[in-house]
Amino acid sequence: MTAHTALKHNLNTELWNNFSPSNRMEMARGIVAFLEAHNRLGEDIVKMLNLGSGVGITSSCLEKAHPFFHITDIDQIPYRNEVMHKRYLQNDISSLPFRDGSYDAVFSSYTFSYLGNDEQVMREWLRVLRPGGSAYFVFHAPHSAYLKTAREMISANMGKDFLKLIKHYPGDDYRGLYHWFCEKNFAWGMAFKEEQKFLSYAHEIQVCEHLVQVVAGTMFQSDQEIADFFKAQGAEDISVNILGLDFVARSCENMTESQMIAWFVAFRKGLK
Ligand SMILES: C[S@@+](CC[C@H](N)C(=O)[O-])C[C@H]1O[C@@H](n2cnc3c(N)ncnc32)[C@H](O)[C@@H]1O
Repeated sequence: MTAHTALKHNLNTELWNNFSPSNRMEMARGIVAFLEAHNRLGEDIVKMLNLGSGVGITSSCLEKAHPFFHITDIDQIPYRNEVMHKRYLQNDISSLPFRDGSYDAVFSSYTFSYLGNDEQVMREWLRVLRPGGSAYFVFHAPHSAYLKTAREMISANMGKDFLKLIKHYPGDDYRGLYHWFCEKNFAWGMAFKEEQKFLSYAHEIQVCEHLVQVVAGTMFQSDQEIADFFKAQGAEDISVNILGLDFVARSCENMTESQMIAWFVAFRKGLK
């Protein structure tokens, strides 16, 4: 089957089934470096739940970056042997099939705003965290470079053009497409060249559309809003930071919104 035929057969009916995010190793290294620098990591095994994990790339990267993490993934997408992380459960993440306090840590990246930043969902996520356990969250931010790129892709009508253009590049040589990506957006061109993942790019474009048109309206607007949200949930030791384009996590004072990719939040669940 040529890549083009495969695209026609597989293209998005289920938005997330082929989601294959790039840059997750850099993100994992950035998060672990920050946690180490702030003495938030020890040398005990940390039983962690990754909520809205996708196919598990992020968990594999986190386990590489910090071998004491022992992560279970949970997401709604169907299990696929060839791509999933080894511990995976298909389930709705707004209602978890675990007892109170079952995990030492919870993690989630780029997922909470898809559930509308819902307080009840967060209460459910923190229910399965043991008292004193750690929570690490990466949240989309409305003015981040990531969202800017997504908006550019939508306004350049990349989804439509991509599907048209792809017909001219069947087979395994996508050089033409790579140049086209570079013209539209250099960062996306580089990522495309690196991965050459044809189907995943078509999906990422659709994900961008969903992100801009639906999800952007529910994101946290500021670090203060995030701090207040978690204080009200009984969190302690809250640290709200910015994950930059270089994937270094810094305090919010040291970076502008245009240099940011996302919010990165770390806190402990209160003991009561
Ligand atoms: C943008 S992706 C992020 C994936 C992964 N965390 C990452 O950083 O690469 C959002 C994920 O949330 C999952 N998701 C959204 N709502 C969900 C729900 N109600 N139950 C389970 N998974 C959900 C989607 O299936 C998708 O995999």
